[in-house]
Amino acid sequence: MEYLLLEKIDGIGVITINRPDALNAMNDRVVTEISTAVSNMIAVDSIGVIIITGSGEKAFVAGADIKAMQQMDADGALKFGKAGQNMTLVIENSPKPVIAAVNGFALGGGCEISLACHIRVASENAVFGQPEVLLGLIPGWGGTQRLPKIVGTGIANELITTGKQIAAEEAHKIGLANHVVPQDELMDTCKKIAQQILKNGPNAVAASLECINKSVGTSIVEGLNHEVKSFSRLFETGEAKEGLTAFVEKRPPIFRD
Ligand code: CAA
Repeated sequence: MEYLLLEKIDGIGVITINRPDALNAMNDRVVTEISTAVSNMIAVDSIGVIIITGSGEKAFVAGADIKAMQQMDADGALKFGKAGQNMTLVIENSPKPVIAAVNGFALGGGCEISLACHIRVASENAVFGQPEVLLGLIPGWGGTQRLPKIVGTGIANELITTGKQIAAEEAHKIGLANHVVPQDELMDTCKKIAQQILKNGPNAVAASLECINKSVGTSIVEGLNHEVKSFSRLFETGEAKEGLTAFVEKRPPIFRD
């Protein structure tokens, strides 16, 4: 990988986007590498949670690469847009929770990567925004679809049409960031959340994420139907049996070797 640093620490896969001279802005290559890295980590049994962050203390990701987009025609932009959307779908559909450790600017495509993650934790200096309209664009990697679902349509309308940037505290207030912590505590906070998740049944965690994903954009009846089938299917696994039995036997469950 040219632009990513990859680590595996105690069941957690950490992806650090590392293009500091462009504030981790994403060109074609970065997009492809992220899609590949997340897919690879999903396939590794010993990884249960993935954390995505940016290198340095200034930026998570300052957006899609504006210099590359400046050279694109509509066909090129369609290809670039689809590749970016595909990357966000790989993240969103991951059966392993993906946590965004937002360590600075999360603008445009950077904010959109965080929106596709299941949990967002921000450092105090983080800045979120969808400034595409300032460039005569719209968010092209899912921002128009996911932001309203996370913060509500009214606030998404304002953020996207003004293109304004908001500080971490405001992002927290509107539900965009789950937590705001000092920068030097960011990775530890994300790892603590990951460790809590790792204690739980991996099939149950994956099924929860899948049901939550399905709840968005489907009717409540469809969502409930899907949920109950998935709930009942878990009873066919040894995992549910172990979790239920462990509770009854007043001992911690053992879900992993
Ligand atoms: N693309 C390419 N290069 C970028 C970039 C981007 N998105 N963001 C920053 N950079 C580069 C700068 O060009 C600069 O490089 P040079 O020194 O070679 O000129 C370097 O990173 C440092 O940036 P600044 O000097 O601008 O740093 P700053 O501290 O003054 O400002 C900033 C920081 C406010 C984040 C500013 O860089 C900025 O506004 N960046 C653009 C943010 C943006 O508009 N993002 C959305 C892109 S569109 C998009 O993402 C579309 C989509 O939905 C897919």
